[in-house]
Amino acid sequence: MSIVINTPERIAQLAAQEYVALLNKKPQAVLGFATGSTPLALYAELVLLNRKGELSFCEATSYNLDEYIGIDGIHEQSYRFFMDRSLFNEIDIRMEKTFLPSSSIADEAHLAEFDCEIEKAGGIDIQLLGIGRNGHIGFNEPGTPFASSTHVAKLTESTVQANSRFFLSADDVPRFAATMGIKTVMHAHAIILIALGAEKASIVKTALHGPVTEAVPASVLQLHPFVTWYLDYEAAALL
Ligand code: GLP
Repeated sequence: MSIVINTPERIAQLAAQEYVALLNKKPQAVLGFATGSTPLALYAELVLLNRKGELSFCEATSYNLDEYIGIDGIHEQSYRFFMDRSLFNEIDIRMEKTFLPSSSIADEAHLAEFDCEIEKAGGIDIQLLGIGRNGHIGFNEPGTPFASSTHVAKLTESTVQANSRFFLSADDVPRFAATMGIKTVMHAHAIILIALGAEKASIVKTALHGPVTEAVPASVLQLHPFVTWYLDYEAAALL
């Protein structure tokens, strides 16, 4: 495990260099992407580097961590819409090689196939993660078994409240989401977790230095051999 502490802008640049190194060595890399406000600066940096020709996504495949259940890809708060707008439409990735878990509850029984598809593609080379204030990764809320594969998760009330800032009201936030499981995430060859801001300081400390427990999903990352935690000074304040 390594920990990089810097400003949010510098973190975006440093983390982007991991993608430059990977894609230049392995153009057909498999990338695991995340949503939320945290990865936005990194995505902007990747767009810039792609335009400058320093890296290309044209042979890459991507799998996203999660997607809300019950809103489709044209809904502005769907993670498909978010990814298209903040990254996929702006880079040279082939849209048909960008995958998110299905937002349809009718597909629930088939969600574990998402993991099979990832494995068939060779496994995720870099999985990007943010962290919820309660320690969730993807939508794996506290208590999710470490052995979980991609599944439908019920959002906790604290996550609904945290994510309501993107919706008209908390009532509009979907209560369920399809998410890669913790086992799915842990199968990635390498993981980048970015945490920014004082509101993440307490959970960062707990996840990094507290016991490894299903009560704190991100604590499982202590068991992964290649995780880099990119923290700004505020998120690292309690370390
Ligand atoms: C959501 C996503 C997570 C993300 C988290 C933190 O719930 N499902 O993948 O890490 O929010 O979001 P933010 O980066 O906006 O703090």
